[in-house]
Amino acid sequence: MTKVYLNGTYVAREDARIPVEDRGFLFGDGIYEVVRVIEGRLFAWDAHAARMANGLAGLRIRQDGAESATLRAVCERLVKENGLATGEATVYLQVTRGAAPRIHHFPPADTPTTVFGSTARFTPNVAMRTNGAKGITLPDIRWSRCDLKTVNLLGAVLARQAAQEAGAYEALFHRDGMVTEGAATNAFMVVGGVLRTYPLCHYILPGITRMEIVSLAHELGIPLEERPVSLSDLPRVDELFVCGTTTDVQAIVELDGEPIANGKPGPVTVRLREALTRRLMAGAA
Ligand SMILES: Cc1ncc(COP(=O)(O)O)c(C=O)c1O
Repeated sequence: MTKVYLNGTYVAREDARIPVEDRGFLFGDGIYEVVRVIEGRLFAWDAHAARMANGLAGLRIRQDGAESATLRAVCERLVKENGLATGEATVYLQVTRGAAPRIHHFPPADTPTTVFGSTARFTPNVAMRTNGAKGITLPDIRWSRCDLKTVNLLGAVLARQAAQEAGAYEALFHRDGMVTEGAATNAFMVVGGVLRTYPLCHYILPGITRMEIVSLAHELGIPLEERPVSLSDLPRVDELFVCGTTTDVQAIVELDGEPIANGKPGPVTVRLREALTRRLMAGAA
């Protein structure tokens, strides 16, 4: 029986209930996190907890019951109770503004939030990581607070569906002629020997994996600039990869039907993928 966490209790997944008036359901009014778990250890917990707190503050959702220590204990207990203390898994956390009659503006300040946690077994796609994947490009139709990890994911849902229909893994968004990020990943490109990625701002999610890649690039002496790459330069980059909690470092070797460079994962991508794997396995950060 798989257990989930809901508002202070651990219950069988099929017994978990949220009211139909939950604002997460009605408005997408909430914040979520996905955390990687390796051999029972939560990877980069503090960074995930800080991003969640920042997201809740950004939406002005109460944080009581969703403090870092509380949520960490929830994750660790779910991992143990669901038999995920060995191998790989993910934890999903979501906090919404709670249930209240459907009015757009905030409900009374004492409305309890909904705090939910669940786990899943995770198996990285080793063949795709090794061989590379296909990507497509799409206009970034999302709102302009992409730095908040809200459960409003329609932009990503539509983009990933378009990718799926094109036989691709990821959709890369562009805004104002610049590549911002993937539908559920951050994007890096090697241009003229320099690793480039969109700078942190409200147009991209501050990915935890992105942060790890930036730190690994420094550690490995790989020149890095947090500077956008234009859509028109994209077909001519030497390497392109996307990264995320469940994506690791994923080479994109074909974009919109055209090969990137020689159509194989490039050396910087491979180095960073291997370095990230070592860090994940060590449970560092
Ligand atoms: C839009 C977007 N960008 C980037 C990422 C990668 O973030 P992280 O490395 O924290 O998983 C995600 C993850 O879901 C995402 O949804």
